[in-house]
Formats: sequence, C-alpha cells, structure tokens
Amino acid sequence: MGQPALPAVLVAGLAAVAAARNCKNITVPVSISAQNANLTLAVPQDNIEVNNIILDIAQPGVNFTALELSPDDQFVTVEGTYSIAATYCEPDAGPGHALQVLTHGVGWDRSYWDFAAQDYKYSYVNAALARNYSTFAYDRLVISSPAQKRTLDPINEVQSELEVASLAALTTLLRDGTAPGVAARYDKVVHVGHSYGSIQTWALTATRPQLSDGIVLTGWSDAFSAGFLFGGNYIEARTASQRLADYPPGYLASEDVLGCQTNFFAPGNFDREILEAAFEATQPVTVGELMTIASVTGGSNGFPGPVLVITGDRDVPFCAGNCQTSDPSIPAQSKETFTNPSYFEAVVVPGAGHGLNLEFTAQQTYTSILDFFDKNI
Ligand SMILES: *[C@@H]1O[C@H](CO)[C@@H](O)[C@H](O)[C@H]1NC(C)=O
Ligand SMILES: *[C@@H]1O[C@H](CO)[C@@H](O)[C@H](O)[C@H]1NC(C)=O
Ligand SMILES: *[C@@H]1O[C@H](CO)[C@@H](O)[C@H](O)[C@H]1NC(C)=O
Ligand SMILES: *[C@@H]1O[C@H](CO)[C@@H](O)[C@H](O)[C@H]1NC(C)=O
Repeated sequence: MGQPALPAVLVAGLAAVAAARNCKNITVPVSISAQNANLTLAVPQDNIEVNNIILDIAQPGVNFTALELSPDDQFVTVEGTYSIAATYCEPDAGPGHALQVLTHGVGWDRSYWDFAAQDYKYSYVNAALARNYSTFAYDRLVISSPAQKRTLDPINEVQSELEVASLAALTTLLRDGTAPGVAARYDKVVHVGHSYGSIQTWALTATRPQLSDGIVLTGWSDAFSAGFLFGGNYIEARTASQRLADYPPGYLASEDVLGCQTNFFAPGNFDREILEAAFEATQPVTVGELMTIASVTGGSNGFPGPVLVITGDRDVPFCAGNCQTSDPSIPAQSKETFTNPSYFEAVVVPGAGHGLNLEFTAQQTYTSILDFFDKNI
C-alpha cells in the first residue's frame, strides 16, 4: 500500500503556507534632479525613423550622443516630482535581516523579479523571502505612472541620469525609514539590478557609494553589445501592441516575441509559455534612455562594498552571445571597473541567456545571489 493521502484540510494548509506572501503595492513620490544631455535629436515619428536612430546609436567608433548634443547648453538640469510604483515584501515572520532594492531592465517592469506566470515558479522575490530578506521592487520612472507616461519627454527628460537619481532618492527614503508604506528600518540596504538596472546600480554606487551595503549586477558586464539594439527589433511602442497604444512617439518596444527571445532567452533554456508571457508583459524604453546608457557608466567605480556580477554564458546584450570568448570571462573582466571592492566575484551561468530570472536555470541563479549576500552582508 502506498502513502495514505493527506487530509484535504492539511493539503490546503500547506498550499496556503507556500502562497503566503506579505507584499504590498505602494506609490512613492520622489523629487529629483539630474544633469541631462541636451539633445537636438527630433522625436522619431515612425518605425523607419526609429530604426535610423538604432543604426546611429549602434555604429561602432562613433559617439552619436556626443554628435547630437546641443552646441550651446550641452548638459542641463532637469527636475521634477515623479510617482514611483513599487512592491514591498517582507518574510511572513516580519522584516528580514536586510532590504534588497531590485531594479529591472529594458523591456520589463518590476514583475521581472516576481513573475506571476505558472504560479510564481520564476520568482526571485519568493527565493529572497525564503532566505529572510525583504524586497523592494519598483518600476523605472518612465513606466511608473499611467498619467505621467503620456507627458514625459522621451528625448530630453527620461534619460539615464534621471533614472539613477530616482534610484538614489528611493534608496535614501528606504534607508531613513521614511518611504510611505515601509515602516521597517534596515541596518543593511543592498541592491540587485538586471541589465539596464545593473547599469543604474553601478552608476548609483559610483556616484553615491554610501547608499549601498552590497550590490549584485545580473545580466551585466562592461562590454555592452550592439546585438541588444539590433536583436530587440525596436519600434514605436504604440505600434508594437494594443496594450501600449497610448504611448507617444519616442517610446520604443520590441516588435514581436522573437525580439524578446533574442535578447533574453538562450536556446534550450526556457519554456515557450514563459517567453510568450514575457512578451505580453513587455514595457517601453525611451530614446533618451538608450542615448545616455554610456553617459552613466564611463570611468571607474570606487564602491568599497562587496560586488557580485552574474551573467548567463549565452548573454547577447553584454557578451554578444558568448561570455567565454576570453579568459577570464567577459563578466569577470568587468572587475577592472571597480577600484576598491571589499570582495568581487563573477559567476557565469552555464547555458543561460540574458533573462536569468525566467529561464530554466533561475533557481541556480537565485541561489548564487542569495549565497553571496548571506556570506558578505
Ligand atoms: C500589485 O500590482 C500588480 C499589478 O501592477 C498586481 O499584479 C499584484 O497582484 C499587486 N500585488 C499586491 C500585493 O497587491
Ligand atoms: C538646449 O539647447 C537649445 C539649443 O540647441 C536651447 O535652445 C535650449 O534652451 C537648451 N535647453 C535647455 C533646457 O537649456
Ligand atoms: C530574520 O531576520 C530577522 C531580522 O534580522 C531576525 O530577527 C529573524 O530571527 C530572522 N528569521 C529567521 C527565520 O532567521
Ligand atoms: C558619448 O558622449 C556622451 C556625451 O558627451 C558621453 O557622456 C559619453 O560618455 C560618451 N560615450 C562614450 C562611450 O564615450
């Protein structure tokens, strides 16, 4: 005779434990300013104009951003108050032993960290809660508010410096215990980024090292590849999907599910249903953000805390599809951008692409990140 069946009430109880999540959605206003590039570039009005800009940004040996700077006021102060949409989660038993601030990348919103499809099978947040961390995942300001997104200037307002300023402002509120809806105060606040979110995390710690106690840069190296710009098949977001129809020109999104596949999912390492769900969830990026990625990552980073870089070995945007074409690997070489880390480690995830959280290797990735924090924070 086999195992006796569990009483239904106990089964229900176990399911409730597994699903119990102490999470809440909050909106955090931030008043920020940044030195943005004053670009003369016109807003692209159709998909061919978008493609021209992609080809101009991707041209090797030419700094298109520098060419497009206004000759008079090259950099100007942009300021404003923005509402940031976020989800704050605590372990069931109360605040965890550190708070992780999670910054997503291009093509996503904060759901990248806590993907609901297939009953949260691909949830970094759940893995972190299970290891007694609290999490704060937020939407980049460009997509944070439905009311804002129709009015923000996609060339000269929503740029990388302003996004980094919003990450800094959020972190300051969280460290001070003054973010609305987050009552707990944490001795340790750490940061995890993905892709463009890793770039912002790098930039945050380069310019304001006191704001973080440790960083994990996922899907990142300092060798950004034009493969990302071409592979994504970027077009006007409003023409990419009915769901994005109210975005004005200058907000871009992948044309189809294949753009999403090329940039995020490695052959043999993903579930097609998750790829479809990822494309269904895709979110826009502005021309101004793409034009200023390099502006926030130039130079070196004196951050004195611990650093983990973790990237899939088939990553297209940051390894051109193979992180192992050199020894040390491309992600390991990005150690050179850090002048003073207390600890540095680079992990290359075998068989994985850029969208680490949503591939078959996700649990392995989560374990590497959480082991790093357990050891170093
Ligand atoms: C938070 O909002 C998202 C949609 O933006 C929704 O899917 C999710 O269920 C909400 N979470 C909570 C805890 O209310
Ligand atoms: C940006 O440069 C243009 C000239 O190209 C100038 O007219 C404009 O005032 C500058 N923008 C700001 C905000 O200073
Ligand atoms: C989780 O962290 C909190 C805060 O440091 C601590 O009080 C609690 O005992 C930890 N819980 C577990 C299960 O380790
Ligand atoms: C290109 O020019 C911009 C504006 O001057 C500058 O911020 C950026 O660092 C340059 N990019 C590279 C890769 O040198």
